Parts: sequence; structure tokens; C-alpha cells
Amino acid sequence: MPTITAVLGDITQQDVDVVVNAANNAMRGGGGVDGAIHRRGGPAILRDCVARFPHGLATGDAGWTTAGNLPARWVIHTVGPNHAAGQRDRSLLESCYRRALEVADQLGARSVAFPLISAGVYGWPKADAIAAAVETVATTSTNVEEVRIVAFDQATFEDVRAALARWTPLRILEGVQVLHERGYHRVRVMPGVSPSGMHWRVTITADRVGSQPDDAHSPVETRSLRYTTGSFTDFAGGEVTVATSPEAVADLILAAFPGIAPTRDDPDYVAWFADLMLLVERAGRPPVAFADYFDDTSGWEIGWGSGVRHPHPPAAPPQR
Ligand code: APR
Repeated sequence: MPTITAVLGDITQQDVDVVVNAANNAMRGGGGVDGAIHRRGGPAILRDCVARFPHGLATGDAGWTTAGNLPARWVIHTVGPNHAAGQRDRSLLESCYRRALEVADQLGARSVAFPLISAGVYGWPKADAIAAAVETVATTSTNVEEVRIVAFDQATFEDVRAALARWTPLRILEGVQVLHERGYHRVRVMPGVSPSGMHWRVTITADRVGSQPDDAHSPVETRSLRYTTGSFTDFAGGEVTVATSPEAVADLILAAFPGIAPTRDDPDYVAWFADLMLLVERAGRPPVAFADYFDDTSGWEIGWGSGVRHPHPPAAPPQR
């Protein structure tokens, strides 16, 4: 799965293998991204469009040409559905991203920059255009290693970052579960909502229980690592998006907790956490153990206000 990042800027200036163009069926240029690519890439692109697409390009399909004077090596043109003209079939919009990645794979491209297809002249509602881009790229298997979603203005850039961060809490919790599977039973979470109610946050703690024999008598120190959705995809000095594997998240957490060792000594918590994750993944919402005016007598809640509860975690076993 490729890394997926939000970039604020002009797609024609992206130094990547492939720049994706939001073209139209005629494939002879236009405004917006199309206009910018032809203007900056030069006439070689249009000549290639005429030669390679004499009959244009179908909506949802993709095809490549030279990138002319652009820093990129190729332009992959794709035609999104024209929402303004009544074309509302979202699968055609998703197909633009999927087909563009297929063509990128045929070219052997390793980095691809996408604009938000159909979100401009074609009037697709921006939030759903962003969701379609993120979800489709995140679920398409491809050899491309880096995908950039290029936003042309600050507000859209923040929206793309927020969309990429939607899965970050889930990926972080899945990373903790991987650590449990690796034997780090002392890694625990304490999730909740900020006083403003705006952000979900989690504190991850790990007892540094030494792995050396003489450590058994050294005082156990508890380390902690924090995340808040206010920091979007930034976590533990790295980036966690929908595209980040739980294994990679586990490695990020371990790197933040030097010196902790697998203890394999708290199967009750591991089992409790696995049950919690079944509820979290089914709901697609992170758990809450604390928040202002939150009544936790019946345990943690799977998604604030959902009414779905999970009992409090078992107490930690006595230190060795
Ligand atoms: N770099 C990055 N993003 C850009 C740029 C640029 N240079 N120019 C525009 N955008 C953004 C827009 O703000 C929008 O969010 O790209 C997104 C797609 O907008 P359009 O280019 O209008 O593409 P689309 O909505 O798919 O409409 C395609 O418009 O330009 C014509 O010939 C094109 O007929 C086709 C139609």
C-alpha cells in the first residue's frame, strides 16, 4: 500500500513520476488542472493526446501521455463524472483513481500526484470527492509507493489532512494490538475526548519492566505516549494514515519506548483489549474512557454517545 499524503500546491510543480490530469472526454485541454498541465507542460502533451486518444477518453477511464516540460515523467489523464451535468455515479469517480493507478503500474511509476478529480468545474461535492480519493487509493493494490493528493487551497488541504486522519485512531489502536501479539502485554491505552469535545485523544503507557535479570529489582518506570486527532496524522515522530500498517504503528510505538521488553504476563488485559477492538472495528469509531460529563460507571463507550459499552479493563498484575 502506498503512503498517502496531503500536499498544498500546484499539481504541475510536483516532482513525481506521474501527474494525474482532471481531463474531459474530448482530451484536447480545458481549464483548471487540464489547462494548467497543458500550459506548463507545453504542446507536446496535446500532440500526444491527439495521437494516443483520437476518439477521446471515456469517463472513469485513464490513459497516459508524455509530461512535456513538467517535472513529472508522464501525465495520466482521467475523466471524472460531471456532477454539474447530472453525472452522479460515484463508481465512475472511484474508477478514475483505480484506473490511474493501474496505468501507473503499467508504466512502472513509483510516485503519483492526484488532483481532486471532479471537485472543480465538474462540481462534485468536495467532502465526498476527497473521501472517494482517499478511500479508493487506500483500497487499491498497486506497486506505486507514494501518492500525493494535491489541494489547491489551504481549506481543501486541511480537509484532505482530516480525511487522511480519520483512520489514524484506529490504526494506533491496531498497533497496540500488534504489540500485545508480540508479547508486550504491559502496553495499555487510556482514550478519551478533550474538554472542548473537539478531539479524541489517547495516552499509551508501557511499564519499562527490564529484560535483564538484575532489572527485576530496578524500579519499574511507566512511559507514556500521547496522540490527539488535533495533530491529524502526526504520531510518535512519524505519520499514521489509513495507509499505515498496524505493524508499522507498533514499530513507531516501540521506538518511542526504548528499553521496554515483552513480558507476556497480562493475558487478561490482552484478551480484554482484543474484545474492545472487535467492537471498535465493527463501529469504526474509537473508544472513550473519559470526557467531561461522561458517566463511566458502565464501562468504556465505543464512540462517544453511541451507548455501546465495554467493561473497564482488568487491573494490571502486580509488578514482578
Ligand atoms: N493544481 C492542483 N489542483 C488544482 C489546480 C492546480 N493547478 N487547478 C485546479 N485545481 C483543483 C481544483 O480546485 C479542484 O479542486 O483541482 C480540482 C479539480 O478541478 P478541475 O481542474 O476543475 O477538474 P474537474 O472538476 O474534474 O473538471 C474537469 O474542467 O478544466 C476542465 O478540461 C477540464 O472539462 C474538464 C473539467
